[in-house]
Amino acid sequence: MSATTPRIAVLGSGAGSNFVAVANAIAAGTLDATVVLVVSDYSNAGILKHAADRDLPHVFLDPGPNPNRFADEAQIELARLLREARADAIVCAGFMRVLKAPMLTEWAGRIINIHPSLLPQFRGRDAISQALAAGIPVTGCTVHLVTEEIDSGEILAQSEVPLLAGDTKETLTPRINAAERALYPSALQKWLHSPGSRNSE
Ligand code: GRF
Repeated sequence: MSATTPRIAVLGSGAGSNFVAVANAIAAGTLDATVVLVVSDYSNAGILKHAADRDLPHVFLDPGPNPNRFADEAQIELARLLREARADAIVCAGFMRVLKAPMLTEWAGRIINIHPSLLPQFRGRDAISQALAAGIPVTGCTVHLVTEEIDSGEILAQSEVPLLAGDTKETLTPRINAAERALYPSALQKWLHSPGSRNSE
């Protein structure tokens, strides 16, 4: 770690396997970054437990009363938390809420996400089922910038995962997750150390 080491905040809603891959890459020295905050919209999310195990700052953010909305107040609070943590860039790792203003304006160009399809194919929820239903031979995962339109920002890296005969959601999901865990740390290293990923204000 040096004075130029990027300060990242990680947002996640689930098990946190992508976060673990990122944290392990930092520990191994293949990803030069510091996790300054882990935020989850679920108080019992695995990602928060993984952050606690690693003694990393972590917080539950109440997303508001409507399960299908990310309340405006919560987005304002999230922007405040990230500012307070002096994050340079925001890493979404299985974060299932849609970010809007002020997050997207304040952090424009500095929010990255991983999605379980080869974008622009199969945007939005349940991309793995969408790929299975389409009957295509190859799917995969994509690292991309977060913009207002869901899963539509600049594509930074992709990894292919071939479908196998008889694949179901249960058999395909772990292979896509493994591809994500391999891709995200290296894509982050490249992006965080390229001009534009931080200090764009
Ligand atoms: C990943 O498949 C990611 O693409 C999707 O949610 C999953 C997160 O898994 N958006 P985890 O919480 O990182 O284990």
